[in-house]
Amino acid sequence: MDPDISDEMIDHLVDFFDRIAPSYDSWAGGQHERVAARLVDVAAPQKGEHVLDVGTGTGLVAHLVAPRVTPGSVIGIDLSDNMLAIARSKRSKNVQFLGMAAERLVFKPETFDLVTMGEALAYLGDPTDALAEAQRVLRTGGRLAVSNQRRSLSTRAQDLFFQGLAPLARRHYLSLPRYSSERARFGEPNVLPQLLDGAGFEVTRVTEMVTGGRTRDAKEWTDLMAGAGPLPNTLIRALGPRYRDELEAEIESAMESLGDPDDAFRYHHSYLIAVGRKR
Ligand SMILES: C[S@@+](CC[C@H](N)C(=O)[O-])C[C@H]1O[C@@H](n2cnc3c(N)ncnc32)[C@H](O)[C@@H]1O
Repeated sequence: MDPDISDEMIDHLVDFFDRIAPSYDSWAGGQHERVAARLVDVAAPQKGEHVLDVGTGTGLVAHLVAPRVTPGSVIGIDLSDNMLAIARSKRSKNVQFLGMAAERLVFKPETFDLVTMGEALAYLGDPTDALAEAQRVLRTGGRLAVSNQRRSLSTRAQDLFFQGLAPLARRHYLSLPRYSSERARFGEPNVLPQLLDGAGFEVTRVTEMVTGGRTRDAKEWTDLMAGAGPLPNTLIRALGPRYRDELEAEIESAMESLGDPDDAFRYHHSYLIAVGRKR
């Protein structure tokens, strides 16, 4: 495990996913399920395959893979009990969900034909160890399919909002653990394929998914961004009603400062999806 990653950061992250679990599937009009469906299409699971879904969350990817591999099977692993509870409440007969860290898989080498990692890599305590573990448990020629948010395609409105989070935390005397900024680049086309290559995979496919929309006002924007990550979530939740009103007023004027009304309250959700074959 990377010594720079504190247990505090991992607790903070698991708390975040425990907290948002009930609203995860409906966030941004079902955005996570659309990304999961695209990842599964690109991963192309085949009948009879055995699949591991790392950072399975509410099991979106696992439950989409399951019918495609029958009579094969799917195992989903995650650290958040609340996310796993939702995953287990959806029934597919050839799926099993286990509490386990991506960096310390209990499976024997060469157990799986396909490993999927939907929107999980940048959140993991040690992405390098997790990729090495995925490589170890895949058979030679097995595939790893990863989706990761591509943050450079965020809108000006998102950039403005996220730049304002650190000053907001300071103003409210909140000190929150954060991963290093290199994680924000994991979904870039010159980064994700290299990570896979460095972990012993021949990259066979790279594709993108770009979606977006607009919220109607600052309240809707704040609600949406509260689901976008541990930092905005913890900050927004920590604000009482008066400071929340103040934040929404600040967001309104920040959006006006963009100049073009068409840019205000606009967001992009963009992802890079890469598939690699174990060498
Ligand atoms: C954004 S969610 C992705 C869920 C799902 N794969 C999807 O595509 O919607 C990231 C998940 O990774 C899990 N996670 C974070 N760190 C982990 C770790 N070290 N090992 C296993 N799961 C982890 C979180 O609990 C969370 O459920």
